[in-house]
Amino acid sequence: MPQIASSAALARGPEEAFPFRSHLLPSRAVSQSGRVSLKEMAGDEALAIRAENLAKTYRSGTTAITVFRGLSFEVRKGESVALVGESGAGKSTLLQLLGCLDRPSEGSIYFGSKGIANLTDAELSEFRNRMIGFVWQSHSLLPEFTALENVMMPLLIRGVPRRQAEPPAREKLEETGLRDRMSNRAGELSGGEQQRVALARALVAGPAVLLADEPTGSLDYRTGEGIVQLLENLHRSHQLTSVVVTHNLAFARRCDRVLTLEKGTLAAVADNAARNQESDRLIGADGNTYV
Ligand SMILES: Nc1ncnc2c1ncn2[C@@H]1O[C@H](COP(=O)(O)OP(=O)(O)OP(=O)(O)O)[C@@H](O)[C@H]1O
Ligand SMILES: [Mg+2]
Repeated sequence: MPQIASSAALARGPEEAFPFRSHLLPSRAVSQSGRVSLKEMAGDEALAIRAENLAKTYRSGTTAITVFRGLSFEVRKGESVALVGESGAGKSTLLQLLGCLDRPSEGSIYFGSKGIANLTDAELSEFRNRMIGFVWQSHSLLPEFTALENVMMPLLIRGVPRRQAEPPAREKLEETGLRDRMSNRAGELSGGEQQRVALARALVAGPAVLLADEPTGSLDYRTGEGIVQLLENLHRSHQLTSVVVTHNLAFARRCDRVLTLEKGTLAAVADNAARNQESDRLIGADGNTYV
């Protein structure tokens, strides 16, 4: 468990407060004030994700595990995609590649026309910080810090002064229904409230892409339903491109498209545009009915 920084250290700046996260800070090679041009990084096209022939192999000593290979797919701008599959299929691994948290062993990922393979680690960090918001299943907040401080964090890490980071953080917390809980420490909040903080934090830097890994996985049904509705609303109101890993098939069927990862292969289970409206069931590309 990393050492948790004090509020005083936080006030002095993220580098001091989060030495263990220094790899997330922009390097000197990337201008603190601005400015790797996003247009330059993402290309001129409407942003969408394109993956070509992705493979991921984890190596440990003399053993190697290939989780998947030859995965190719696209996510259209503004689309919401549910990624489903059995435990161990590689959903989190794939999400980490899409989120630029890890690099594929083979293959390429493009945002618009811009490939990210040639970005340096510092540029990739910068790209991730500006373009991608993450929500995890749980345990992603710093429990000793307030909800507001947690939401400000991506901006502080980017080098934005605290007084400039606070207004957008407050705004996002209001959007996620936490106007009255901003000053509470994250550790004092319920699981559902913590996920709302995590959503606010994911959106505070104005990302184009939202990636969520089992965002309702540790919540009861009713609380999870509230988070799903919030995700749907935010996806629309922020015009996001969203990829959500979920075991919740009821949620998956509300996304634009469902992809399943199985035995190292990705398949389109359902395009909800093709949903049979009469029976309100998902019809898969194979003609079978799901959910
Ligand atoms: N850092 C790592 N080093 C070695 N193996 C790993 C690593 N991360 C994941 N794996 C392995 O890769 C495979 C896929 O794991 P991953 O966490 O992506 O699955 P998942 O589909 O997200 O499963 P779950 O639904 O349980 O979260 C598993 O066999 C896992 O043990
Ligand atoms: Mg996982």
